[in-house]
Amino acid sequence: MPNDCPNCCDMVLFGALGDLSRRKLIPALYQLERAQLIEPQSRIIAVAREDMPAAQITERVSDVLKQFVAENERDDDSMARFCKRFQYVCMDFSDNASYQSLQQCLEQKQHQRIFYLATPPALYATICKGLHDVGLTEEPTRVILEKPIGHNLSSSKDINEEVGRYFNESQIYRIDHYLGKETVLNLLALRFANSLFSNNWDHHAVDHIQITAAEQVGVEGRWSYYDDAGQLRDMVQNHLLQVLSLIAMEPPSRLDAESIRDEKLKVLKALRPINASNSQQMTVRGQYAKGFSGEKKVPGYLEEEGAKENSETETFVALKAHIDNWRWSGVPFYLRTGKRMPEKRSEVVITFKKQPHNIFHETLPDLPPNKLVIRLQPDEGVEVEMINKIPGLGKQMQLKATTLDLSFDETFKKRRIADAYERLLLEVMHGNQYLFVHRQEVEQAWNWIDGIIAAWETTDESPKPYPAGSWGPVASVSLLAQDGREWDE
Ligand code: BG6
Repeated sequence: MPNDCPNCCDMVLFGALGDLSRRKLIPALYQLERAQLIEPQSRIIAVAREDMPAAQITERVSDVLKQFVAENERDDDSMARFCKRFQYVCMDFSDNASYQSLQQCLEQKQHQRIFYLATPPALYATICKGLHDVGLTEEPTRVILEKPIGHNLSSSKDINEEVGRYFNESQIYRIDHYLGKETVLNLLALRFANSLFSNNWDHHAVDHIQITAAEQVGVEGRWSYYDDAGQLRDMVQNHLLQVLSLIAMEPPSRLDAESIRDEKLKVLKALRPINASNSQQMTVRGQYAKGFSGEKKVPGYLEEEGAKENSETETFVALKAHIDNWRWSGVPFYLRTGKRMPEKRSEVVITFKKQPHNIFHETLPDLPPNKLVIRLQPDEGVEVEMINKIPGLGKQMQLKATTLDLSFDETFKKRRIADAYERLLLEVMHGNQYLFVHRQEVEQAWNWIDGIIAAWETTDESPKPYPAGSWGPVASVSLLAQDGREWDE
């Protein structure tokens, strides 16, 4: 494809009027506009089924910005420039003629083409075939796929196969928005730019690792989608396993897609299977009952709007994972994620081993271990918990557990923390795949998750209820207590 502007692109948003586009994609693209990171001639082609006059798209985009971009981040110039980029193509995704209209629109410019499929995955095959039939899938075109990529290993293979018939792996960008979060990226910096940590990142130094992704919200009006998925599929299969892979992987030789994705894949392959023989000791699933969100009374999962009686879907998961390799032998990774927790908080806590001998036993008989706390969101930052002497002339040395706290807000004053989608969209425009998930990673993650789901299906136990506004069922505390540990709260 000859390109009349090498850095220009046409970003085609399938499902442009849907929830993801409105809440995340359009606001993220607008932020890139504001930061002047989009080439002046690049276009955004909004594609949806709604039959509306093409000119109306400007008004719709401007409404989205008013609703989803903070007032102090909206300026007239950027908004006007941004709205001007949009064109609207109404499409019936199953109709060939529709793809011809799209092709005509794209043919007006010879730009890098990017198709963002912000649609249900059930439509991916139809859309990719439609694009192929009008000659729109040739390299270097790129396609972005949203999660969920399947419901299990077999359906994810089907999706990957279908898309793979029309696009090569090097053209496919599978989104896991956690990989676009500043603090998740910072895991790479912490690990590989600081010898203090890289030299203490294995079973010799680390006692255990906790990864928490807690949300205060419930299912937010998407009961039926969520009920089909549950927290294990919705959060663990993708976001938590990606974070775990970044923490556990071997140092990649370069900061590029192939090196990083190869290392992450090795971690996923080394996860010890959880199956019917060990799932009782390794996993806890819960479902929220009525309770509180802050001060407000909220219904239980089964009383939410649109809920079906007797659903056994989990809204909380805690599990213990082992990575069977040299580095992590004997170091458990405890993962926990749930809806209707007391607060929104995602963090990684690395607990180091205790000192082998305590010379301060008279004043501090139980010398606490050092901890590295990486706050992914909100209040992004990094903390190191360590012991210090309390200043004073007392005969005995008084010690205190203290915290070195590096808050991003304080340290990088005035730096706005970009939303994950801003970073990810920019990387696709630049053709960098290192923050996107390879097909093998998705399938390997499903392989592990399928084992857990199959194990759950063999028991007649239901998810354990927990009151909304709590940290999950008591069994989650026991999961760590049986190993003499506790969740970091
Ligand atoms: C999405 C899940 O992938 O991630 C949602 O489908 C969840 O259920 C969301 O609420 C959490 O994302 P974040 O960035 O708010 O932690």
